Amino acid sequence: MDDSYKNQFLKIAHRGASAYEPENTLRSFSKAIKMKADMIEFDIRLSVDERLVVIHDTKVNRTTNGKGYVKEKTLKELKELNAGKGEKIPLLEEVIELAKTKTRFVIELKEYGTEEMVIKLIKENNITDDVFVVSFKKRLIKNIKSLEPRIKTGLIILYTFNPLKIINECNADALAPYHLLVGRQLIKRVKNSGKYLFPWTVNNAREANKLRVMGASGIVTNKPDLC
Ligand code: G3P
Ligand code: CA
Repeated sequence: MDDSYKNQFLKIAHRGASAYEPENTLRSFSKAIKMKADMIEFDIRLSVDERLVVIHDTKVNRTTNGKGYVKEKTLKELKELNAGKGEKIPLLEEVIELAKTKTRFVIELKEYGTEEMVIKLIKENNITDDVFVVSFKKRLIKNIKSLEPRIKTGLIILYTFNPLKIINECNADALAPYHLLVGRQLIKRVKNSGKYLFPWTVNNAREANKLRVMGASGIVTNKPDLC
């Protein structure tokens, strides 16, 4: 991601255009691209045979017609499930292939042990400049930066008393706070330190506009056509 993006208000499609299509599916990412999302966000987990699959929860229960833990299923078993409207659970490489010439990526790592495989795929696809790797896990973000300093990273937070200290500790380029934590002061401090700030999940046009005026770097939204 080049610096020109620092001056734009980015619409980041959360699990794709997930207000309109089944979350974290190729259908949802295609819809987000049609809606001109600046980036697509999605979640990565490992199957039992160590393939990088795009699914949010630890279990398949909520988003598919199956039952059980993702990490206990093979890719073949996961691919047999219906992830909504007949969609399959995608592999990371399938999402990159679909979207790499059309939009950019916020790749959330839900699990340790995914770092090296994700970096390898990013490099093979020549999308190093077009990616943020983000996580709630500080050590994971730190690992990514030390393995490949050119990849931008972001720390996702639900609450914190000193966010700047924490993002500096893990050398992250961005902070992604829960939207209700975000006020003028936080935006100012994060932006003044040269970092990006992406509140999640913002699905209300008035709130999105307020965050834009206050100087947020963008929003993570289920509705990439929001503004
Ligand atoms: O980008 C932040 C957001 O995706 C974190 O929450 O639960 O949707 O992964 P969650
Ligand atoms: Ca996520």
